[in-house]
Amino acid sequence: MSDISTDQINKAISYLHDGRLVAMPTETVYGLAANACDDHAVAEIFRAKDRPGFNPLIVHVPDLVCAKKYVQWNRLADQLAKEFWPGPMTLVLPRLEDCPVSLLASAGGDTLAIRMPNHPVAQLLLRKWCGGLAAPSANRSGKVSPTTAQHVEAEGFEGVPILDGGPCEVGIESTVIDCTGDVAVILRPGSVTEVMIRDAGVALNPQAEPGDLLKSPGLLTSHYAPSLPVRLDVEAAQPDEALLAFGKAPLSGAARVVNLSESGDVVEGAANLFAALRALDKPEYSAIAVMPIPYEGVGMAINDRLQRAAAKREEGKKCAG
Ligand code: TXA
Ligand code: MG
Repeated sequence: MSDISTDQINKAISYLHDGRLVAMPTETVYGLAANACDDHAVAEIFRAKDRPGFNPLIVHVPDLVCAKKYVQWNRLADQLAKEFWPGPMTLVLPRLEDCPVSLLASAGGDTLAIRMPNHPVAQLLLRKWCGGLAAPSANRSGKVSPTTAQHVEAEGFEGVPILDGGPCEVGIESTVIDCTGDVAVILRPGSVTEVMIRDAGVALNPQAEPGDLLKSPGLLTSHYAPSLPVRLDVEAAQPDEALLAFGKAPLSGAARVVNLSESGDVVEGAANLFAALRALDKPEYSAIAVMPIPYEGVGMAINDRLQRAAAKREEGKKCAG
């Protein structure tokens, strides 16, 4: 972790009290944080990101006491929180009737997504703040999530201080789990995987097929989109393409190659994914060609994000044609 001074934390806290935004590191990706209980501050997040108003936000909490002030806690949540918090997992639960969190964070609905992050800087900020911080990923809506302070800087949010906590260790957004029913339902795959959840003894809905990933509720297909078209599962790369490689035997012939993991490790691949997409998304290439990535463990989440990146291009082609 980079060194964060008490002054920087105090400045961030005073910004939050003023209803302003602060970029904070988490173990997954950087977040654009605001006072979760201040309607204007939460609205400012949507404005800064150009985010569609119907997409709800995750509220980050310092501890369980805070979470239980916001949502109806239940057995599923208890099991999952004991196993995976603090960590890269978000729980969707019913809002308490007197929940003080802005309804905007729930996009007007009766559920709220909450997460206790496992990054020392986020924890320091949350403990000092003593409450909830609404924070989506700190990128403009539909763009690739930032995994370094420099990525956030490149998004150009004006007047938003950035707490530099170094590169994000996980590198892919949290697993979002709906806990409002009798069994848990994965809404967004992440590094807390289906197998890990089942191993913790938690009742989980049947696994979606790889092709079903885009049907997950609460998610826009156009998320995680680089500017270039994205070709998935390629077996050959063109000379004007940038290649997102995976494993020991990267394809040859591309103009540029970034390998997510030379050893074929999906966890390392997830940590490198968004920085790699940014590095390859340059106008001198015709497309980003992606080698097949195994649908195992956090590989599910990598494929989910890549399918969304590619889906936007397909929609664009349909519109143009
Ligand atoms: O790792 C993460 O989750 C990062 C860091 C900053 O914590 N945050 C993040 O936030 O990825 P965002 O806003 O980019 O994604 C939040 C996801 C969206 O897919 C949203 O639809 C879903 O969580 N979500 C939020 N509230 C929900 C709710 N009440 N019901 C269902 N899905 C919800
Ligand atoms: Mg996001």
